[in-house]
Amino acid sequence: MDTRSLQGQAALVTGSDSGIGKGVALELAKAGAKLVINYAHNHDAADEVVKEITDAGGEAYAWQCDVSHEEQVQAMFQEMFKRYGTIDILVNNSGLQKDSKFVDMTLDQWNTVIGINLTGQFLCAREAAREFIRRGVVEGVSKAAGKIICMSSVHEVIPWGGHVNYATSKGGIMMMMKTLAQELAPQKIRVVGIGPGAIQTPINKNAWDTPEALNSLLTLIPYNRIGQPDDIGKLATWLASDEADYITGVTIFCDGGMTLYPGFADNG
Ligand code: BGC
Repeated sequence: MDTRSLQGQAALVTGSDSGIGKGVALELAKAGAKLVINYAHNHDAADEVVKEITDAGGEAYAWQCDVSHEEQVQAMFQEMFKRYGTIDILVNNSGLQKDSKFVDMTLDQWNTVIGINLTGQFLCAREAAREFIRRGVVEGVSKAAGKIICMSSVHEVIPWGGHVNYATSKGGIMMMMKTLAQELAPQKIRVVGIGPGAIQTPINKNAWDTPEALNSLLTLIPYNRIGQPDDIGKLATWLASDEADYITGVTIFCDGGMTLYPGFADNG
C-alpha cells in the first residue's frame, strides 16, 4: 500500500489522547493526514500526541470536546473547517465503560455510556456528513466525498453480562453505521465499522495487568496475543484510503479470533 495514502487529507479522531484513538491518530498521520486530536479531559496527554505527530513532520492540534454535547461538537467542527478548510476522514472513536450488574445499574451509568459511545457518534457523523455533501468529491484527494469510521467492538455481536450499557451502545453503533452507509452511499460517502477485540489500553487494564488476568483473557483469543493500538490504527488507515474504496456498511473485526466462539474449539 502507498505509505502516504492519506496525503493532505484532514482527519478528526475523537478520543485520540489515549488508547485505540491515539493509535489510530498516529497511523493516520504517518499516512500523511492532518489530524485533530480530540480529548475530553486530559489536555497534557492530547498535547503529547500532537507533539509526537509534529516532531515526525506531521500536522496536528488538540481540541477539547465532550462528544455527547451538540454545541461542543459543532464548535469542534467549525474550528476544524477554519484551520483545515474541510474534513475528509472522521474516526468516531470516543468511548467508555461504566460497568455494573444490570439490576444495580443506575440511569446515570446507562445514559453516560449511551451518550458518549452512541449519541456522540451520531452528532459527529452528522456534522461530517453535512460537510462531505456540501463539498463533494475532490479529485486528486480521494475517490470518496468522505469516510466515516465507527469504532465498535466485538461486543456489537457478543453479549456481555455486567456491561449492558456498553454492549447496547456497540450494537447501536453497528446499526447506525449500516443505516448511514446505505443512506449516504449515493453521495459517495463511505461508512464502515471496526470491531476491536481485547486491545491493550487503559479501558481494560484489569484484564491484562496481572499474569493471571492475561492468561484468562487469552483463553478467549485463539490467536493467543492481546491486540495493540497500532493493529487498529493500520486497519483504520487502510479503510480510510482509496484502497478500500468499494467497502462500505460493514464492520471488520480485528480481534485475533475472539468472535470465533473459541469455547467451541474442542467442545460442543
Ligand atoms: C472492551 C474491553 C474488552 C474487549 C473484549 C472492548 O470493547 O472495551 O474492555 O476487553 O472489548 O472483551
